[in-house]
Parts: sequence; structure tokens; C-alpha cells
Amino acid sequence: LVPSIGPTGEEIQAHRGASALAPENTIAAFRTAAEQGAKWVELDVALSMDGKLIVIHDDSVDRTSSGSGSLGELTGEQIASFDAGSWFDPRFAGERIPTLAETLVALGELGLSANVEIKQHKHHKSLDQLVEAVQADISHRAPGTKIMISSFDPAALTAMHKLEPDLEMAMLWGRPPEDWAEQLAAIPATTIHMHFKALSIGMLEETTKRGIKVRAWTCNDPVQLVSFWGAGLGGVITDNPKLFLG
Ligand code: G3P
Ligand code: MG
Repeated sequence: LVPSIGPTGEEIQAHRGASALAPENTIAAFRTAAEQGAKWVELDVALSMDGKLIVIHDDSVDRTSSGSGSLGELTGEQIASFDAGSWFDPRFAGERIPTLAETLVALGELGLSANVEIKQHKHHKSLDQLVEAVQADISHRAPGTKIMISSFDPAALTAMHKLEPDLEMAMLWGRPPEDWAEQLAAIPATTIHMHFKALSIGMLEETTKRGIKVRAWTCNDPVQLVSFWGAGLGGVITDNPKLFLG
């Protein structure tokens, strides 16, 4: 018999918002996550040409908006002028690519907390500029909005930790390297966010022993994780939080 152990609300993060049901990384996707009962959203941030922190996954606006071009060649104002909803569904026409500052205002109103994934793109000239922009924006968050930071770039976590030593930092890996424990010890991260297909009971036993939290991305099928909750899995990042919230 498989014990029915599932995640609690705090352990579920809506990936790019509820991106199965609304255009990713838009206020509509965050609102949908809140309507589903999620407490956390994961979102991606990067800089525009003029140093505005934008909530978007790719390094160009092509896939997720009516505009075209690289973030490094577009101003924040230009990025804000594009339609970020119609590509997903005409119902979302008029949705915008939000800044992190705008998003945090909305999250405050929606009672949501945020996993801010810092993207490192080729057009970023300065890591300090990137993390200082994150710090400036999150300093204005609503009192009820908790923040954690994640990144595939260990240097981004290290730089962010220097500015915000109290925030939870998660190292992002698809499949963690063989020497994940050594690599993690060298950066100020207490958490691993890894692809759910790379999970193993053995690794969770090891991370639990070491006091390291593990969350799995991007899983849209609760059955895939059933055996891992009891072994210490700490959370899931999903496009469709409702599937996990029951
Ligand atoms: O946070 C997990 C996940 O968002 C990492 O991959 O490419 O969807 O940002 P990606
Ligand atoms: Mg992400």
C-alpha cells in the first residue's frame, strides 16, 4: 500500500504562476495561482536594456508576447507595450509583461509569496547591477509576501546572499552533479531545486541528513512524487498547483 502523504500549501509553488491555465509570468498567471489556493509563485527575472527588472523566462520577448527582440535591446517601456496574453489565449489579450516591482504589488494584494529565480543572460553586463536591482525591488514587498531566491548561477546566489543574508537561497540543477554536496557547501544555498525526474530516495535521505531542503520542478503529475514526500521532499514547483492542492 502506498501511504497517502501529500504536500501542504506552503510546499507548492506555481511555476511562472499557474502557467498551465494562464500566460506564464503575467499578473493573470499569479492571480490564477492565488485563486487555486497556492501560497507561493515561482517567477523569472532579468534586466532590460535600461536596467529595469522584468518578469520573463526567455532572453527575448518573442515566444511570450506580441513583440520581438532581445531584452538587451529593448527598454522597459518598450517591453511593457507588448501584449503578453494573446499568444496563450485570446481571453488574455491585453495582459502585459510585468516588472518585478509591479508584480510584487500584485502579489501583496493577492497574499502570495515569491520564489524569485534570477536568470543570467548574455546581455547582462554586471552581476552587481542585477542583484542590486533585485534587492531594490524586493525591499518594497508587502509585509505578508515572503521571498526566496533561486538560480542556475551559483555566482548570482553568492552575490545576492551578500546583500540579503537572511533569504533562503536555492541552487537550481536539472540533475544534480555527482559532487552536489561539495558544490553546495561552496555557495550560500541551503536548498536544492532539481528536476523531478532526477529525484531519488537515496539522495533525499542524504539531503535530509545534511539539513538541506529539496524541491522538485516542474512536475504536473502528483503520482510521480507520491513516494518522495515521505522520504523528505520539501516542495514542488508546478504549472498547475490545483492538481497538488486537491
Ligand atoms: O524553478 C524551477 C524552474 O523554473 C527552472 O527552470 O527554465 O522553468 O526557469 P525554468
Ligand atoms: Mg524558472
